[in-house]
Amino acid sequence: CGITAISANKEALPFLLQGLEKLEYRGYDSAGITTIEGNHLFTKKAKGRLQNLKDLLKDENVLGHVGIGHTRWATHGIPSNLNSHPHTNNDETISLVHNGIIENYRELKEILILQGYQFHSETDSEVVVHMMDYYYKKEKNLQKALERVITRIEGSYALCIVSTIEPDKVFIAKKDSPLVIGKTADASVAASDIPAILDYTKDVYFLEDYEIAILNKGNVSFFDQYGNPIEKEITTIPYDNEAAQKGGYDTFMLKEIHEQPYAIAETLRGRVEGTDRIILPELDAIHDKFKTFNKAYFVACGTAYHACLSGANILERLTGIPTFTQVASEFRYCDPIVDEKTMCVFVSQSGETADTMAALRLAKEKGCTTIAVANVLGSSISREADHTIYTCAGPEIAVASTKAYTTQLIVLLLLGMYISQALGNENEDYKRIIEGIASLPQHIENILKDEKTFEHYASYLKDLKDTYYIGRSLDYATVLEGALKLKEVSYVHADAYIAGELKHGPIALIEQGSLVIAVATQPNIAAKTISNIQETIARGANVILFTIDGQEVGNVKETYILPDVDPILQSVLVAVPLQLIAYYAAGLKGCDVDKPRNLAKSVTVE
Ligand code: G6P
Repeated sequence: CGITAISANKEALPFLLQGLEKLEYRGYDSAGITTIEGNHLFTKKAKGRLQNLKDLLKDENVLGHVGIGHTRWATHGIPSNLNSHPHTNNDETISLVHNGIIENYRELKEILILQGYQFHSETDSEVVVHMMDYYYKKEKNLQKALERVITRIEGSYALCIVSTIEPDKVFIAKKDSPLVIGKTADASVAASDIPAILDYTKDVYFLEDYEIAILNKGNVSFFDQYGNPIEKEITTIPYDNEAAQKGGYDTFMLKEIHEQPYAIAETLRGRVEGTDRIILPELDAIHDKFKTFNKAYFVACGTAYHACLSGANILERLTGIPTFTQVASEFRYCDPIVDEKTMCVFVSQSGETADTMAALRLAKEKGCTTIAVANVLGSSISREADHTIYTCAGPEIAVASTKAYTTQLIVLLLLGMYISQALGNENEDYKRIIEGIASLPQHIENILKDEKTFEHYASYLKDLKDTYYIGRSLDYATVLEGALKLKEVSYVHADAYIAGELKHGPIALIEQGSLVIAVATQPNIAAKTISNIQETIARGANVILFTIDGQEVGNVKETYILPDVDPILQSVLVAVPLQLIAYYAAGLKGCDVDKPRNLAKSVTVE
């Protein structure tokens, strides 16, 4: 989501709308604004693109000097007018926009309903505005109310709140969701990202977690969570607006690669309890049905299909349910042997891919239980599947999928663990895997620090037309995705092979100077893959190897040692260097990485 806020000595609307325009890349399910008009709130919201809101406002005379705006990427509640922000309390005195996820909203909602609060939306955000009301009535002070609210809500949030009670001010708080604040001669402004304020000022303050800011005309004051005033330093933004939308990165793809620690943390949020339980309320209705399935199918296209290959491998390992994978365009025509004892999982970032949709409909006709894993709330696949689990990657703009892929891996891992729990199968490794999942964002953060190394690995591809990716078991799914990424963005021909199959044909292709990118992260078979590597080196190949500590690697050109986590989690980690190799190889070849030739982000034709 994207949010904007302003307290000015002039009309608020132009800033709010231009800011939302700049933030539309963060979400475009709905948009809305509130301004303070005299002693009442003026709120307008519209489903769909920002233009719909602008059309609604065309004939309105919006005069308020204080206001908030929101462009939504739905996480709870399908895109609709009611679920759009801003949300307002029952007395219509407080209005709020929220970016993030309130994890404990169900529990808070129940309490508020008992107190007589009426809810109008399905969102997690609406609880916050009623809580503001609840604590304002106790404290008779909006800032104090906000301080109390942030001690009660769990999860991530950037909140901007306006009220007729103190009509000149915007109250702001944040945790784990970005919020930037700026000041001009006659206004103070805030937004969830720099592009929204860059046309007004390049001097900004970054709000830290649990800090509170109050905009009041041209002034901004900052407080800690207990209400003590604090000083903050100004940062001057060195880049222009276009670069700012990309977060200062050259391309959306690079930005999205770097967003993975955050996207994974968001996808895990609220779904892991302590070290021993996975929570997926989306599946609670079929918790007892998992015992009845004698087969599972994983179906998708492109990158999502590669996530399926990992997900299927993991499900089978954890639960013993025989598991199959199929590309959606094949599944729909292969007369699959599935029935009411089959569970079918459909994975799609966009939730709109035509082949995946058709496969889902076929599975439903055959009586299967269908589960969607999607990134876009309210998308076609999520509407038609019996159950949907969302990845929380946020909008993915670059055509080549990166953060959607790794968050799909996370959801499929959680799914495997959840089903294992439902079957009463938690084994010895369970606790270690859960601890490992929680450490993934930090490990990825560390891997990203080695970006220069992967840029160097990409230089091996500079004059090559072909590459070979090899791996076994779970690593095979990983190398298929690595090879696809390279093909998509750099147009270097890349094939992925099961390492054990090399000797049955592909090794004929290896010659002096060939490049082999090998992944060997699974302890039970890493040594086997490494011996296959030696066979390619003997024929002149240069090898880049991703492996785990303690392996005898021999004469490879480059070795990268992955962190020590449960083997089942390695596909998430290795994905990142492989994405960066593809990215930098594309750069060397002068390709437009965000919009590769011949490809579309969402393919809605057969
Ligand atoms: C297109 C994109 C791929 C994507 C595939 C599946 O071909 O170019 O990057 O993996 O569709 O998309 P989905 O939205 O279903 O995950």
